[in-house]
Amino acid sequence: MTIRYTNTVSAVYLLVCLFFTSASSRSFIRQYTDDFNTNMQQESGERANPIQGEVHYLHKHQEISSRNNELSASNTVKGLRDRPPSSYSLKMESFNTLLKSTTERYESRPFSAAGYNWTLVVYPNGNKNDNGAGFLSLYVTIDNSTLSPHQEVYVDLRFYVFNRNEKKYFTIQDTDGWRFSFFKTMWGFSQVIPVSTFKESRNGYLYDGDHCEFGVDVTIPSVFQTSELFSVADKFQISRFTWTIRGFSTLLGDTYYSDVFSVGGRNWNIQVNPSGRASGEGKALSMYLILNANEKFRPYEKIYVRAKLRLVNQRNRFNNIERQLDNWFNGPGYGDAFGWGSHEFISLSDLKDSSKGFLVNDMLVAQVDIEAVSSTKYFPN
Ligand SMILES: *[C@@H]1O[C@H](CO)[C@@H](O)[C@H](O)[C@H]1NC(C)=O
Ligand SMILES: *[C@@H]1O[C@H](CO)[C@@H](O)[C@H](O)[C@H]1NC(C)=O
Repeated sequence: MTIRYTNTVSAVYLLVCLFFTSASSRSFIRQYTDDFNTNMQQESGERANPIQGEVHYLHKHQEISSRNNELSASNTVKGLRDRPPSSYSLKMESFNTLLKSTTERYESRPFSAAGYNWTLVVYPNGNKNDNGAGFLSLYVTIDNSTLSPHQEVYVDLRFYVFNRNEKKYFTIQDTDGWRFSFFKTMWGFSQVIPVSTFKESRNGYLYDGDHCEFGVDVTIPSVFQTSELFSVADKFQISRFTWTIRGFSTLLGDTYYSDVFSVGGRNWNIQVNPSGRASGEGKALSMYLILNANEKFRPYEKIYVRAKLRLVNQRNRFNNIERQLDNWFNGPGYGDAFGWGSHEFISLSDLKDSSKGFLVNDMLVAQVDIEAVSSTKYFPN
């Protein structure tokens, strides 16, 4: 018997679709002529001596490097966490000096993460060119010397600001990734914390006088390589199987199986134990819907089945005995639930009383309506 299902109601889980919307389409690069001039003037004046060691102050940067706030505000996630940054930590012991200086931004030494070199950039008074005036701004830049002009690097960023009161890190991140490229080398948040909040020592960001700590996680998320697709079919051309057992009283064995029948892409049998098994042994007829023994399960595969299993009343069709099945079938070694039904489908005394209508002329009619069967596809196979 060949049975096809005509429609599939898909309840899809665990298939994650990642849509990489272009971050660059949401951002825009602008030159701010006024700021540019201001910076140029500052630079042409007397320049401060660079701090010796691993750090250096850098100059102007004209890019808009945070996302357009209106578009992505709902994608920004802020919170507190215990664990320190995983990629880089930048501690500062004289932040106020920096705040009061004309330094626009502080850039860390390069650090290596996720196969690239990066720097962490802090704008103590905010990146004015990126709508960050009055806020602390945090960014990372990628070292583009090893990038080819058409290469894009899709990155998850999480920035940290230590809060001493909470003894936790304030974190800010975006649910979407950031697209770094040869030409777009800096991304981050222009409005991390208002400078006024940050500066107020009772808020815990500036502590022990003048100390603070920033950090960042730079991770390049990989796209899943394995997945599964779960679906449930519930429309079948033929969903009913009827098994007429003649000469019931001559069945002396323990277990009898119907012919195999196929619904929802699986082969099934009805199993009957005329004298009962398990709790029904000796007092009831047991009946089950079982997956055919030749059905193959993948490791961990489960099949959801909804079905009505019934004994047909041959005198009055309104008096059928019916069990609703709503069960998961498992393969050998993963639960071994390859059949579901009832140990005590009908008591032997009711069965043998032919006036009840279940055993008439030594004939028994078992029937199943399969209502839904799930299937799971695994990738790779
Ligand atoms: C990172 O920087 C180091 C030191 O400058 C350099 O040797 C290395 O090649 C860089 N790596 C990448 C991936 O750019
Ligand atoms: C990235 O490459 C461009 C083009 O060569 C260059 O102008 C720019 O300075 C580089 N950016 C950084 C942050 O090094």
